[in-house]
Amino acid sequence: MARRKYVVGNWKMNGVKASIADAQAIFAAAANHAAVDVAICPPFTLVGALVAAAPGAAVGGQDCHSENSGAFTGSVAASMLADLGASVVIVGHSERREGCGEGDADVRAKAEAGLSAGLSVILCVGEPREIRESGGAIDYVLAQIAGSVPDDFAADRLAIAYEPIWAIGTGLVPTVGDVAALHGAIRGALAARFGGAADDMRILYGGSVNGDNAAELLRAGDVDGALVGGASLTAAKFVPIVAAAAGL
Ligand code: 13P
Repeated sequence: MARRKYVVGNWKMNGVKASIADAQAIFAAAANHAAVDVAICPPFTLVGALVAAAPGAAVGGQDCHSENSGAFTGSVAASMLADLGASVVIVGHSERREGCGEGDADVRAKAEAGLSAGLSVILCVGEPREIRESGGAIDYVLAQIAGSVPDDFAADRLAIAYEPIWAIGTGLVPTVGDVAALHGAIRGALAARFGGAADDMRILYGGSVNGDNAAELLRAGDVDGALVGGASLTAAKFVPIVAAAAGL
């Protein structure tokens, strides 16, 4: 089964009620590109409103707690996202690994919670700049994969997002060859662990993707889509990325 292209907007801590109209415009335009799966992950505060405003669209959270309920002030359970009608959750984003001290075991537990709640999971990995410069990017990312990808899941419900930290929000992008090398290494590690199911898992690239560079990045080997931050906030910037994925 060919893997469908997947383009996901991670709105990070951006968006207020008025931003729902931007998301609606994105989903409306994306509907012209039926070959591409599109999802938007707004802040938790907008998940319910966006589900209501865009029936049938894929809406997700940017994180979840690993537990289903309890004394975890400020946290949101995967089951709560599912209860709102979300269908996907991002886990292990570098802004949480680095900023909130989340390690591979935490990320794995969150991924398992998302899967148990019936959500699809986008599990992020990616190396910091000094690891890239020392030539250790592949080893670093494969260790993250080994430590944070759960053992048991349906292959089409867990996507990996490779997001080199130094490329996030900087305008810097790895060469297409470097992206293909990383994605190929990730695919190889998944195949070694999960066999043929690895062929059905999508591997997204993230980090300064925009309408100008999307087509080239999405054509790289083993790149099945994009996880987009800054350029996902408006239809004007995001839809060209979806169109690039559709045109491949
Ligand atoms: P930018 O597209 O803003 O670089 O962010 C990428 C990202 O972190 C998506 O999760």
